[in-house]
Amino acid sequence: MTTFSPDANISRRAAIALLGSASLGMAMSFPALGEESKGDTLRRILPNFTDRSRALLGSLLEDPMFSGQIPAAAVAVLAQAESLTVDNLMLALLPLAQSYSRAPISNFFVGVIVRGASGNLYTGANIEIPGQCLGLAVHAEQSAISNAYMHAERAIAALAVGGAPCGHCRQFINEASPDGEVLILTPDKPSAKLSSILPSAFGPAALGRKEGAFPVRETNLGLAKPSSEPLAIAALDAARKSYAPYSKSPSGVAIRGSRGRIYRGSYIENVAFNPSLSPLQTALAALIAAGEPYSGITAATIVELQGATISQKAVTETVLGAIAPTLRLDAFAARA
Ligand code: THU
Ligand code: ZN
Repeated sequence: MTTFSPDANISRRAAIALLGSASLGMAMSFPALGEESKGDTLRRILPNFTDRSRALLGSLLEDPMFSGQIPAAAVAVLAQAESLTVDNLMLALLPLAQSYSRAPISNFFVGVIVRGASGNLYTGANIEIPGQCLGLAVHAEQSAISNAYMHAERAIAALAVGGAPCGHCRQFINEASPDGEVLILTPDKPSAKLSSILPSAFGPAALGRKEGAFPVRETNLGLAKPSSEPLAIAALDAARKSYAPYSKSPSGVAIRGSRGRIYRGSYIENVAFNPSLSPLQTALAALIAAGEPYSGITAATIVELQGATISQKAVTETVLGAIAPTLRLDAFAARA
């Protein structure tokens, strides 16, 4: 895993500013530096990239709607400019993904780049919930896959990470690619199919499912009481797209960040239950991929199926209490 050690509570911009000459596989600490230009920060995070590539990445990152997605067209330009295969470009971009990490408990900062079937790339970083149980952490692999999921990718083609994914992540990746065909890319090693690092997988078939989490499917849910609240509508949309084949308890969260931007999160289950992502975890991965601080969150809404077997409300309130303690969670019921 690629690691570095900036202060966990700083903004992403500041985190980038703190990044020294990040290189794969090294734990480092960085002196606090003053404000620097976007060009300078990208130059330090990605020192081997050409100016042209950094300018292209800079323009993507500066887009106020940036969502941790690098479109396939930009990927092709970057790969050509860097004379890299797309697989190696993904590995080269890991320090960028890593710069989004929020790991105040472990100070172990992990970044992942996922490639979807469309050829678009998605960033992901680990997220630890301050003061809360370790089980609430989102691994970088989960964060990048949830990012691809929220962008409605048809499938996951490859996942790049600084070191071999942990067992929990292998299990989570398997739900995204139950055929085991997804390529796992790590530095200085040949690419490996998931099936080769997760033999005898416990997959969706164990609980009677033929397919995994991809492609994203939509179920026909509506609000029990109609609402024109944009957050309720966004959370309903996320609930409709949730993957809850085991509990049959679809659920979605929407959070409002700075400048009124809305981030959605769908509940994404796993056949082994524990690696499942609650809808707020997915929404936080989206907020963080956009480079937003928790302090910008001004509202949060959850939509859940009325009378469902399980509820995400309590865990959502717990996580919100840790990152945005003054907020009250709005809850809406949905009907099939
Ligand atoms: N972590 C990942 O993000 N991916 C892995 O595969 C290994 C572990 C994170 C989880 C936690 O935030 C920190 O690294 C320490 O385990
Ligand atoms: Zn993991």
